[in-house]
Amino acid sequence: MELREVIGNRRSMRFLRPYQMVEPEKIQRMLEAARLASHWGNVGSTRAVVVFRDSAPKEALDALTAPIAGYQIRIAPVIIVWYLDTTIVDRQGDRLRELVNVGALGVGEGKHEQLEKQLIPIFNSILERMKEPGLGEVDGGQAIAQATLMAYEQGLGTCCLSSPNVDRIRQALGMPDTCRILVIQTVGYPAEMPEAGGQRPRQPFGEMFHMNRFGNAFPRSPEVVRELERDRMFQAAAPQPYREAELDFLKAALGIKGHGLL
Ligand SMILES: Cc1cc2nc3c(=O)[nH]c(=O)nc-3n(C[C@H](O)[C@H](O)[C@H](O)COP(=O)(O)O)c2cc1C
Repeated sequence: MELREVIGNRRSMRFLRPYQMVEPEKIQRMLEAARLASHWGNVGSTRAVVVFRDSAPKEALDALTAPIAGYQIRIAPVIIVWYLDTTIVDRQGDRLRELVNVGALGVGEGKHEQLEKQLIPIFNSILERMKEPGLGEVDGGQAIAQATLMAYEQGLGTCCLSSPNVDRIRQALGMPDTCRILVIQTVGYPAEMPEAGGQRPRQPFGEMFHMNRFGNAFPRSPEVVRELERDRMFQAAAPQPYREAELDFLKAALGIKGHGLL
């Protein structure tokens, strides 16, 4: 399957098969994909604790809750707790040295000297600020996106969830205070059809992207749209005609109480 179709098919899967465990190798491939993602200054502070439902301590599972569609935590065979380890930012200087040594950053003679005398001192002066929410979160998003595509490629479904319980999760998993939890991600084999009801709604292109100046909509070529439809990056919009029946079926099969919104 081409990348375009993969991007179009990747969909949050909230309904997973609780009875089918995920092979650790598949999770490892997700983590390997996350590890290769870009990070500011190549620092790489995105980390994860992978919680396997069948072997994790009860305390850890109890701490994992989600405010929206919380049944997902109950049924997911694997839950990845993605976080930033802010102490890694202290290694910034060495990461920059590595980049220069391998020829990724800097050109010409004297680059090592400029790195030591100018660039590293600049980063050192903002080190504490770089630990605050900001670019690190972007790193996390990139890493999680790559892991998500790898999950999809292996036939897995995932959904990112926020949690009101990050302090409790951190304690239950034995993580130090310097770890900032970003999001928790359920992983498992989908119980729903691969289309998961169809392509989810998105904001209008013209409102989202600008050209040269804020408010000047980036021109959207209908030809490109047709091309992406042909390549299946754009697919039939949700809801598919059978979706409500599918949801009723999933609700009964997975023992979801009420409307499953909370
Ligand atoms: C950072 C983040 C947090 C999210 N939190 C939740 C959540 O708490 N509960 C939930 O059901 N979905 C959550 N989602 C999933 C979105 O609601 C989902 O992306 C949306 O339903 C659109 O579906 P799609 O991913 O298939 O495009 C989250 C997604 C992201 C990226």
